[in-house]
Amino acid sequence: MKVLVTYFSQTGNTEKIAKAICEEASRANEVELKKLEEVSPGDVAGYDFILIGSPLHASNLAGPVKEFLGSIQAGSGQKMAGFITHFAPAYPDQAMDGFTEPMKAACKEKGIEYKGCFDCQGALTESLHEVVKKKQNLTDEQWADMVKQMTGRPNEEDEGKAKAFVKELLA
Ligand SMILES: Cc1cc2nc3c(=O)[nH]c(=O)nc-3n(C[C@H](O)[C@H](O)[C@H](O)COP(=O)(O)O)c2cc1C
Repeated sequence: MKVLVTYFSQTGNTEKIAKAICEEASRANEVELKKLEEVSPGDVAGYDFILIGSPLHASNLAGPVKEFLGSIQAGSGQKMAGFITHFAPAYPDQAMDGFTEPMKAACKEKGIEYKGCFDCQGALTESLHEVVKKKQNLTDEQWADMVKQMTGRPNEEDEGKAKAFVKELLA
């Protein structure tokens, strides 16, 4: 199977998961790993399976990912799955359902089979700590707890879970 792993990543978290997914997928498939900026919407038609990664931005996929999803030119019989990183410890399933809506809508519109989405924590860049702490109205203690939880993520365990997700998808 020809697989495209593409992602948008500003601080490397989503890229880390993309690399883990690529490593796993490459065991039994022909895989290309590309930053979103390196892929044009017309390229997508050449792959059987598209894995697309995004950080969560303001409880949504990142702008460039949504834009890309809207403009892809699909082939036939294709499948797609997503992967998302976010600083929040965990989102309930129905929230993830909302975040993945643009992927599902693009798949529906373009006749691609949607196969689900992996998500895990990814540390928030330090430059935004104060802003987010204020916005979420957290005490120093609550924020310290949040920072403790997100530091070092995605970690090896997250990478392992991403690999297991893709292993099952491509089996
Ligand atoms: C502008 C902006 C908005 C964000 N909004 C959210 C959010 O709504 N929820 C969340 O959990 N994380 C949010 N984050 C944190 C990122 O999703 C998270 O740190 C992610 O792992 C970054 O991935 P990257 O390193 O691939 O860019 C936001 C980050 C930025 C820069």
